[in-house]
Amino acid sequence: MKASVTVHKDFAISTIDDRIYSAFLEHLGRAIYTGIYEPGHPTADKNGMRGDVATLVRDLNIPYVRYPGGNFVSAYNWEDGVGPRESRPTRLDLAWHTSDNNAVGVHEFSDWCDTVGTKMMLAINLGSRGLDEARNFVEYVNGPLGSYWGDLRKKNGRAEPFDCRLWCLGNEMDGPWQVGHKTADEYGRLANEVAKTLRAFDKKLELIVCGSSNSDMKTYPEWERIVLEHTYESVDHISLHMYFRNPAKHTGNYLALSQKLEDYITTIESTIKLVKANKRSKHNVYISFDEWNVWYHSNKADRAILDGNEGWPTAPRLLEDIYNFEDVLQVGCILNTFIRKANVVKIACIAQLVNVIAPIMTDPKGAAWRQTIYYPYYFASIFGRGTALNLAVTCPGYAADISDNVPWLDISGVHDEAGGTVTFFAVNRHATDSLPVEISLLGFGKATVIDHQEMTHVMLEAVNTATNQTNVAPRKGSGAMVDGGMLTVALKPYSYSMIRVKVS
Ligand code: AHR
Repeated sequence: MKASVTVHKDFAISTIDDRIYSAFLEHLGRAIYTGIYEPGHPTADKNGMRGDVATLVRDLNIPYVRYPGGNFVSAYNWEDGVGPRESRPTRLDLAWHTSDNNAVGVHEFSDWCDTVGTKMMLAINLGSRGLDEARNFVEYVNGPLGSYWGDLRKKNGRAEPFDCRLWCLGNEMDGPWQVGHKTADEYGRLANEVAKTLRAFDKKLELIVCGSSNSDMKTYPEWERIVLEHTYESVDHISLHMYFRNPAKHTGNYLALSQKLEDYITTIESTIKLVKANKRSKHNVYISFDEWNVWYHSNKADRAILDGNEGWPTAPRLLEDIYNFEDVLQVGCILNTFIRKANVVKIACIAQLVNVIAPIMTDPKGAAWRQTIYYPYYFASIFGRGTALNLAVTCPGYAADISDNVPWLDISGVHDEAGGTVTFFAVNRHATDSLPVEISLLGFGKATVIDHQEMTHVMLEAVNTATNQTNVAPRKGSGAMVDGGMLTVALKPYSYSMIRVKVS
């Protein structure tokens, strides 16, 4: 068994939009409270934001963080989170059956974004609310002084507009679980009116309309077609979400799910083209894959709270998936898929960032640490910027539920022309066999391997914890070399690798 890959410098898919390495934070469980915000924590800054968490976030160089939801946003009143803290109301959150005292709102979140070197991407409530609250929110965030909302923002401590460029028009409006769930026609019409109104305020905002919550929804992909028929000319992106599960503990089927992801993206790419053609439009709409991750480990533990059996707790442990080594391979394959679809996926957000289905975990009053999946996200975000290369891959595969031929090798390649490097991200899906890979590098001139980081583990179930934080972590790989324009490497069974090549 071996894999052959051919890559040519001029054979590119697209420039990668850095925003595919974005993330998501929701008012959910301990994402905000005791996640990023914990006044009294030994590392907290003057705003109560945890310094240990901020360092782990900053290292990821995240372009945008989507906020404040998620399902939470569909019954959220943004006004509750501004003004003096002592007058902010405590509200019952209907999405996650919890209480929120609104200690963190748009001001605090924006300050935190500055601290960690990211920008905010805000979601508007189009569930329980509508056009007027949406425009008020946007004017509050971005409006000039001398206007009612701009002056109120100043009174609340911020004269300068926040200048938020990316706006999500609701969240998962196709989902019957959503507060204010709508049909595609109802939502499409509302979203179009909101988009038109926001554009009247500022033509240059980038607007994201809701696509499907997942590709198993009964309304998929008609939902996208109908919503885009209503909104095509007034929006820039359509959002997709997908969560990956392995409750049956079948690694082969689990690691094949990135093919389902690729089909999902390709189907909506075609739907966008269909609507564009129907409308004889010149305008382009792209995909914002603004929620993706593994989510299933915590499902059982979450039940009592979600069913309301524990009342309305504040910042409970919800959706606290503890990721294992197997999930590293999955996240590696997901990120490879976004790189390979860089022509149409222009934004993607790992969901979420801290504590809630997240690469970063914290203990209240205690440590913050990297979960296993932190690493493939880190490598892609730091080294996966540039041009996505179109790789011609020949590799045998296996049969899984989702497809009869899932290649053992999952790979993407990125050319950073300015930095003079080509980086490959590769997953060997084989349980027992090492996979020899030959990559023919064409048109790059002299090439030398400058780094090989590898993740393997004897146990797929291995995890990182507060007391064993580096149980699953990258190590220096060995054996990758270039000779006569041919990069060769043997990928260990069940492994994730990042290989960087200096090119002239
Ligand atoms: O990220 C957790 C939840 O998943 C979000 O609130 C919702 O949008 C999705 O269903």
